[in-house]
Amino acid sequence: MIGYAICGSFCTISHSLEIMKRLILKGYELLPIMSDNAYNTDTRFGNADKIREQVVEITGKNIIHTIKDAEPLGPAVNLDAMIIAPCTGNTLAKIANGITDTSVCMAAKAHLRNDKPLIIALASNDALSGNLKNIGTLLNRKSIFFTPMVQDDPLKKPHSLVADFTLIEEALLQAMSGKQIPKMFI
Ligand SMILES: Cc1cc2nc3c(=O)[nH]c(=O)nc-3n(C[C@H](O)[C@H](O)[C@H](O)COP(=O)(O)O)c2cc1C
Repeated sequence: MIGYAICGSFCTISHSLEIMKRLILKGYELLPIMSDNAYNTDTRFGNADKIREQVVEITGKNIIHTIKDAEPLGPAVNLDAMIIAPCTGNTLAKIANGITDTSVCMAAKAHLRNDKPLIIALASNDALSGNLKNIGTLLNRKSIFFTPMVQDDPLKKPHSLVADFTLIEEALLQAMSGKQIPKMFI
């Protein structure tokens, strides 16, 4: 079973739901996890209850969205891998710095206890500024892999990177063999 976590990059959640659907159609079993912000916040990109409904419908499972429910994901529930898509700059920075105050960070920390792969699909406006050092930190961390990223709007958002979500499955398969997709920036 693969843990599939969604953070509060609200403009990319619909893309992530499409990838979830594709993975389920291919036979993957996904355990959905949402950060508190993703789980509860209505934005111009959609209402939280509708997103939650879709996640449950796609995966057929209840959503883990509290630290308490995420904690067993390492010790008791042994995931084959965990994907965070989208991963916000906020969650990336927390994982890089050992902060565990959200459901997604808790799930990642618990999962990494088992040295199983964690695949990050980042979407952040500060990826090439405030968060660049955290990308570097996590690239050097055992069992953490990145979905290749693109500068989505270099002129208007010069510090922004967004993962190519269509490469999440490839990143997962490579990560499960202990490998990072070599071309990280596309
Ligand atoms: C409409 C909206 C869109 C956002 N988009 C992003 C985004 O694409 N990437 C990002 O890193 N943060 C984005 N944020 C900020 C995060 O939601 C915020 O940092 C939050 O604390 C993330 O919490 P989480 O990482 O626990 O989900 C957005 C916020 C709002 C309200």
